[in-house]
Amino acid sequence: MNRFDKNAKNWENDPRKLKQTEIIINNIKKYLNSTDIAMDYGTGTGLIAYSIKDLVKKVIAIDNSEGMLKVLNEKIAKNNVRNIKVLNKNLVTDSFKEKKGKFDVIIITMTLHHIKDIRDIFDKFYSLLKESGYLIIADLFTENGSFHKDNTNVAHFGFSKDFLLQEFKNTNFKLIEFKNLFNFDKNAKNYDMFLSVVRK
Ligand SMILES: C[S@@+](CC[C@H](N)C(=O)[O-])C[C@H]1O[C@@H](n2cnc3c(N)ncnc32)[C@H](O)[C@@H]1O
Repeated sequence: MNRFDKNAKNWENDPRKLKQTEIIINNIKKYLNSTDIAMDYGTGTGLIAYSIKDLVKKVIAIDNSEGMLKVLNEKIAKNNVRNIKVLNKNLVTDSFKEKKGKFDVIIITMTLHHIKDIRDIFDKFYSLLKESGYLIIADLFTENGSFHKDNTNVAHFGFSKDFLLQEFKNTNFKLIEFKNLFNFDKNAKNYDMFLSVVRK
């Protein structure tokens, strides 16, 4: 059982996560369309997937934590949601080739810092997107390693803008937007989140 499995039940009891989700949604709505097939990668309990379900046609919500997906599946069943499909999958080890070119938009929030090989995951996202599809990332700016209590499975202590812009270039993504999104305190330390939108 990993840390996400353990924390799944209480995940949404953190007001910061709810606030952060609301800010993300307010800033990305303009990129979403009622005909879109969207992926929420590293969906967790589906905070993003659930919030966009009425703005798009279908959401494929992917995670590799059984505990997180259990919470999401329970919400979906309880509310009879028809357009979120939940998949237990890890794109680090499974490139999901059968869905190549199928997504209008891929959203990844607070998950990129758990993935070591950014070039590889960006290549996979690029291949999964339709032409002109959007990749939307919300994550931490560079931090000093204090954000997580335990840094097991934390591959990056946030990201610098320069690093990500270079990785976007390497994968041929076109930059649409990069901005400071949200500033918050956690355990008496201050962190900044960015929002980045690129296009295939
Ligand atoms: C910090 S949580 C973010 C959850 C959600 N996106 C949110 O904003 O509330 C990170 C999530 O990414 C998932 N995750 C981490 N590495 C992953 C991988 N390689 N493949 C799929 N999911 C992954 C974890 O299981 C966890 O649910």
